[in-house]
Amino acid sequence: MKQRLGLVLEISNHGTLELVTDSSSKSKIANKMPKQASYSLAQSSNFLPITAALYDLWRLKSIGLLTRENYSLEREFALMLEWLKVEPKQTFLDVGTSTGNYARVLARAGANVRAIDISRPFLERAAQHNGNLGIVFEQANAEALPYPDSSFDGATLGATLNEFFHTNTALAEIARVLKPGGKLFMMYLCESETSLGRLVQLPFKFSGVRFPNREAVRVFLSSLGFERPRAEVRRAVAFELFVKTGREMDASLIPQRKLTREPGKPARDVLD
Ligand SMILES: C[S@@+](CC[C@H](N)C(=O)[O-])C[C@H]1O[C@@H](n2cnc3c(N)ncnc32)[C@H](O)[C@@H]1O
Repeated sequence: MKQRLGLVLEISNHGTLELVTDSSSKSKIANKMPKQASYSLAQSSNFLPITAALYDLWRLKSIGLLTRENYSLEREFALMLEWLKVEPKQTFLDVGTSTGNYARVLARAGANVRAIDISRPFLERAAQHNGNLGIVFEQANAEALPYPDSSFDGATLGATLNEFFHTNTALAEIARVLKPGGKLFMMYLCESETSLGRLVQLPFKFSGVRFPNREAVRVFLSSLGFERPRAEVRRAVAFELFVKTGREMDASLIPQRKLTREPGKPARDVLD
């Protein structure tokens, strides 16, 4: 039987060009996407292979540029591991994994990792780069997670909170699939505290990028039964750890599953 080996030029995490063989990662990624869902312009841009190809270059420098500090990826990963205290064989869900950065760090720490994204080009790159770590990559939408209740010991959101179409629905889904005591690590760009900062954020909002208010996030997650034991904010970049307590969710605040935008209505949700 003949096997086709595609050769691909890629930009590595260090900014160098590398020749890699295109493994058959495509077939390994299950499609668990809902039949219908709404996507913003920002989300749709992730369906383009060029976005996936260039993403790691941006990610390498992004936190340093946004915090205007010497904030490396390694420092971010170390903070995540320190807060999550991952134990071997614990189950983790990386939501909006892109090229698999958080998933890789969790898997290397011994966790069993599932990593989802709506974008197949991103998932294909993630699978190519992290093929031997046992991570299960799946194409899925956080607004309709294809997993039973209480499936995971932890979840991670690396800037995905900025892109959800219905943030409340996605967060309620994450709460549902976490076990009591489950941990949620998030890094996101929060609403700027200065009017100039909010002005800079404004044009991005038109493409569907959200800059959630930290207090609104805390209050909403509290209504879903979470506490926030750790938080670190550097300019508009927030790193937060939430823990799902055994406390009952406030049912009146749990959103109905809402995957499509109502005709003629803007995509608003509790964190707008
Ligand atoms: C800013 S990138 C974050 C990348 C990655 N977490 C990291 O730390 O490098 C956001 C990713 O979330 C994905 N995404 C956006 N909305 C999603 C949703 N509803 N469900 C799953 N993934 C989503 C996008 O396709 C994109 O790859």
